[in-house]
Amino acid sequence: MLIQEHVPLAPRTTIQVGGPARYFVEARTADDALAAVEFARSKSLALFVLGGGSNLVVSDKGWPGLVLKLAISGIEQRAEKGRAIFDVGAGEEWDKFVAFAVGKNCAGVECLSGIPGSVGGTPVQNVGAYGQEVAETIESVQALEVETLEVREIAKTNCGFSYRSSIFNTTERGRYIILKTTYSLTPSGTPKIEYADLKKYFAGWRETPTLADTREAVRQIRASKGMLITPGDPDCKSAGSFFKNPILSPEQHDELLRRAALKGLQVPSYPALESQKKVSAAWLVEHSGFSKGFIAGKAGISRKHALAIVNRGQATALDILSLKEQIQGRVKEIWGVQLAPEPVMVGF
Ligand code: EPU
Repeated sequence: MLIQEHVPLAPRTTIQVGGPARYFVEARTADDALAAVEFARSKSLALFVLGGGSNLVVSDKGWPGLVLKLAISGIEQRAEKGRAIFDVGAGEEWDKFVAFAVGKNCAGVECLSGIPGSVGGTPVQNVGAYGQEVAETIESVQALEVETLEVREIAKTNCGFSYRSSIFNTTERGRYIILKTTYSLTPSGTPKIEYADLKKYFAGWRETPTLADTREAVRQIRASKGMLITPGDPDCKSAGSFFKNPILSPEQHDELLRRAALKGLQVPSYPALESQKKVSAAWLVEHSGFSKGFIAGKAGISRKHALAIVNRGQATALDILSLKEQIQGRVKEIWGVQLAPEPVMVGF
């Protein structure tokens, strides 16, 4: 196992900002991961586990400890009680797994096509898009417990999944290193076409869309929003959605509707949003003076989607965070809603 020093992290993230890792190591096996943890322990280094780097903002100082890049590969398929079970290495590219599953005509992750990042990152923030989230298909997660150096199998019911959240980014943050994730998909299944954008895409189709059609549709919709990593497209130098869609109390929700009505505006509404009192962060951002294409020096807002902060070239983490704070301040002032960032902040 090669331990490197002073390794730049910006090129390993999609938003491409931030400083270096003091130490950096790539783990191709569970044993590598274990050895890396022991190395960190022997030198009293703080450990950060890096996946695909698509949901991260690294500070300009970088990471003072050890960055462990998970590179465990492998997609294995087996049949069990009428389900198609996939054991997938944490380091596999997420979209490669989705393509594989769709290619095998297995349903359950097709709406999650085109999401950047690695498989091991998906349980952490319960990745979701276009009407699906991984909580619906994850069976279990295999993880190395940092404290005991034991490999544990964590069943889905113990993962504590909710919107963009699990035990791995809340109560048990830092406790585990995810090595493998097991998904249970439906063989010969039909695609889930419930999200408004997807229904619109397929409106007028005579035939029922296949899983492959759905994958293609989602990729096209994502590309139109700058949410598909497309070489040469400056709008995808981002960390995806920069803010979570806030979930409000009934009182806060009423207050928001009241403020909107005073301006003659209507807050967008979908059944899934209504039932949870969740509101569109993109709408709040756009109605606080930050339109698509907003420029703030080297940082800015994607020209395709108000929820993505982009690095317009040579931006620092500070540039990105200044814009983030500016947006949060205005949204709070105008709408009384506190936006929480969605990406993981590293080394701040
Ligand atoms: N909505 C529904 N049903 C619909 C359409 C929209 O409930 O049929 C909800 C969405 O769930 C969202 C809001 O209405 O709460 C706005 O929808 P929009 O399509 O504009 O999505 P978004 O808020 O910009 C969210 C995710 C994206 C994901 C898309 C598509 C977050 C922070 N962002 O974006 O995820 O790809 O929905 O489902 O939840 C990411 O997390 O980085 C990310 C890109």
